[in-house]
Amino acid sequence: MKMTELLRYDIPPEIIRLWQESESDRLLPVQELAIKRHNLFGRGNLLIQAPTSSGKTFVGEMAAIQTALRRKKVVYLVPLKALAEEKYEDFKNKYSSYGLKVIVSTRDHKHFDGDLESGNFSIALVVYEKLSQLLVRRPEKFKEIELIVADELELLSDPERGPSVEILLTGILQSGCRTIGMSAVLGEANKLANWMGAEAVQFDRRPLELRYGVLNDGIFRYRTYNEYSEGEEKLASTCPDASAWEILMENTGVFAAQDEPCLIFVKTKHESRKGAELLAEHVSLSAAEHAIEKLRDLGDTHSRDKLLATLNNGVAFHNADLSPEERIIVEEGFRSGEIKVMVSTSTLAIGMNMPAHNVFITTEKWQYDKRFCMPWKAPILRSEYENMGGRAGRYGSRMRFGRSILIAPTQFDHEALWRRYVEGKRESIEPQLGKVPLEDHVLRLVASRVCDTDESLQLFLEETLTGRWIWRETISFEEMEFRVRASINKAVDAGMLARKSDKQIKTTPFGQAVASRGISIATAKELAAWIRESETRYWTALDLLLAVALTPDARGPYLSLTTREYEHADYPGQLKRRTIDENISANVPINRIRNCDFAPFFEEIRAIKAALLMSEWIDEGDVYELEKKYMVFSGQILATANQLAWLIDATAAIAAAFGAQDVFIKELSRYAEKVAKGLSEELLPVSRLDPPKIDRNTLLALKAHNLHTDSALANAKESKIAALTDKKTARLLISWAKTLQTNEEITPDKKSGEFQAALLIDDRHPGQIILDGQAVQLQEKQYLMLKTLAQSPGECVPYDQIYTEVWGDSIVESNQLHFQKRKILERISTQLPGRQKLIRTIPKRGFVLELPVDEVMLGV
Ligand SMILES: Nc1ncnc2c1ncn2[C@@H]1O[C@H](COP(=O)(O)OP(=O)(O)OP(=O)(O)O)[C@@H](O)[C@H]1O
Ligand SMILES: [Mg+2]
Repeated sequence: MKMTELLRYDIPPEIIRLWQESESDRLLPVQELAIKRHNLFGRGNLLIQAPTSSGKTFVGEMAAIQTALRRKKVVYLVPLKALAEEKYEDFKNKYSSYGLKVIVSTRDHKHFDGDLESGNFSIALVVYEKLSQLLVRRPEKFKEIELIVADELELLSDPERGPSVEILLTGILQSGCRTIGMSAVLGEANKLANWMGAEAVQFDRRPLELRYGVLNDGIFRYRTYNEYSEGEEKLASTCPDASAWEILMENTGVFAAQDEPCLIFVKTKHESRKGAELLAEHVSLSAAEHAIEKLRDLGDTHSRDKLLATLNNGVAFHNADLSPEERIIVEEGFRSGEIKVMVSTSTLAIGMNMPAHNVFITTEKWQYDKRFCMPWKAPILRSEYENMGGRAGRYGSRMRFGRSILIAPTQFDHEALWRRYVEGKRESIEPQLGKVPLEDHVLRLVASRVCDTDESLQLFLEETLTGRWIWRETISFEEMEFRVRASINKAVDAGMLARKSDKQIKTTPFGQAVASRGISIATAKELAAWIRESETRYWTALDLLLAVALTPDARGPYLSLTTREYEHADYPGQLKRRTIDENISANVPINRIRNCDFAPFFEEIRAIKAALLMSEWIDEGDVYELEKKYMVFSGQILATANQLAWLIDATAAIAAAFGAQDVFIKELSRYAEKVAKGLSEELLPVSRLDPPKIDRNTLLALKAHNLHTDSALANAKESKIAALTDKKTARLLISWAKTLQTNEEITPDKKSGEFQAALLIDDRHPGQIILDGQAVQLQEKQYLMLKTLAQSPGECVPYDQIYTEVWGDSIVESNQLHFQKRKILERISTQLPGRQKLIRTIPKRGFVLELPVDEVMLGV
């Protein structure tokens, strides 16, 4: 089918021209099938099952664009943030000029969250879990979405993520929103289509042939994907007792020399790095100059050093230890062809367009069982094998066919691999909802107002995939009723759901906060306990970080901890030493851990490591140093920051639901931001600018040159700032600072030198004071306290008076006053170290502002 035929379906000519340029003049067979036989541009649900690289994603794209051009909203769901980012860049570049607003939303990319929640978009690229959270917060948004494209639907079988995806999809289907699901690796697609009320679009040929098979003793025995014929190819031979790595090195060397790019999937990050180093030594390829040049522009990291070394020989590795920028550079290098060999963990296995000629696959993987906090080794699934192999022979690349190769060092391995993977059948979707506690899902369903009684919950759950395929066959109506009631009771007991007299169930504010942040009930209980102990006491960053790092939702292998580290790194000792002077009497994790004489468990030590690492991260620790000190790579630091920032943000939401004081909630929210960005408070205002979005290293450099506050930036020379960033950023920074300064009605007149008062407080700027000519931002209570003291400089202001002025009639604990005083001084001394003693305590009486009367000016 010619692309121009799309005119008949009301696709504007200019969009058709765009697609002709980006894809080709013709539609691929699965695309034609979806349009002509299954009414892609119509209304009904579709489930597309077609091989890797057959053009499914472009089917979703066409439907999305056609819907968005009708001014209807589309949500495009993907399983990984890398895929969301890739599609976002592509869609934005292609369609923004046609008036379509494209946004992306992942846990890392929050810039458009407001737009997503308010429905201000044409197409939103969203990771599945993120949409679940949105729908808890704004359930009415379902009605505004016309089309949901759900890519890589095999995610339903994922033990960790599958249950939430299943609930989300059930809700989407019940809302009547049009759904187009896609996957390359679904067994029994008709069965899933039936559940979705969708037409199954099935097609079984790849545009480019794929030879998939096993390499043993120098012979690659394969089957062809399209022809389904068998054949043999002589590849590089090795000595009879060669190991899998030797065979791999030999063959990669030959392929790469023939200009055939190779992608090698391994099971661990360590293996990917080591493997790339080995291969770089073995193959002689030219250096990947562009990638090297771009990497040199990034900040120092250990992963970058290692990458630079392997890239010198045209080899790269790809795993979650790399920072997002590093990952993008190696992906681009591989796409452009200058990187010929890439060793990767499964991060590249799904959906990514990688022009590999040959893919080598290791058939083992590590899985992490959250319930027992234990990793275990398992064989990869047939569907994972197919997805990985599908990165070879992508349509649009120069090759005639691709190879997906399993290495068998022995004849026995050969037979076993052939039977399991080459002859094996794709697994059918295996729904996972029945294997997890139901209460978390019950809470989310009530919070998103999808269900509000026992009956409606039961009805909904019976309509899920698990309900239809498993519960209906295996458990009675009464048993189901019992399970639902028990789950509700657990959530009621935790204070998150409440039963109303008329059989209705509703969420409490606590439950609503928990559901909207997507955390589990188990984690929420621990956070709530910490909040209750901490609202009115002085606590430190480490205290908070450890509390969140120890929760069940913080568990996971994103931060490594080796057995050697577990035994020798003495993280608990470091924690004890760091807190030795602190008098903490509250019943909080930091106290429990530091007073415990037994060796903590493995997961507890990982949490202590995470908390220590993050406390240095927000103290603006240098990434290179942190990597060395904590034996991690930058990607792990970012992943930990992400995970803990999410949990701190949830803590703030729970605190707000409990009606905690504003200062406390805001403090928590700022910590969430500081952890996410790895910055101290001072840098937060300038870090929020977008554009220019300034990376952490540049922000730290600005601070090192004292060019990070609005007052400093407004008065700095453009060239001085540009030396640390670039001209455009410098200009934007100056104009931002000047705008702030212009709005600043009480900016001291520095030019005339007439400014006398050391301290200026003006109610027209309640969040800010001017001290020694510098603007210092303060929280509301801190501002009020300083203002109270400033009314009688040099005199002791009694505690009672301060309480009344600052907190009015609210009852607060006595240490709040000292806590706020300490915060004011901390805040001030970061900018003005000489003012550390601005407020003096008169024991049992009150505070004194240590300034002469004539140096204090109070505005109107
Ligand atoms: N009509 C077309 N003409 C030329 N190239 C196309 C066409 N449609 C898609 N392609 C290209 O083919 C490649 C594979 O397409 P796509 O990513 O849509 O496959 P897929 O079926 O989604 O694969 P996977 O299962 O791996 O996600 C892409 O590079 C895409 O740009
Ligand atoms: Mg795809």
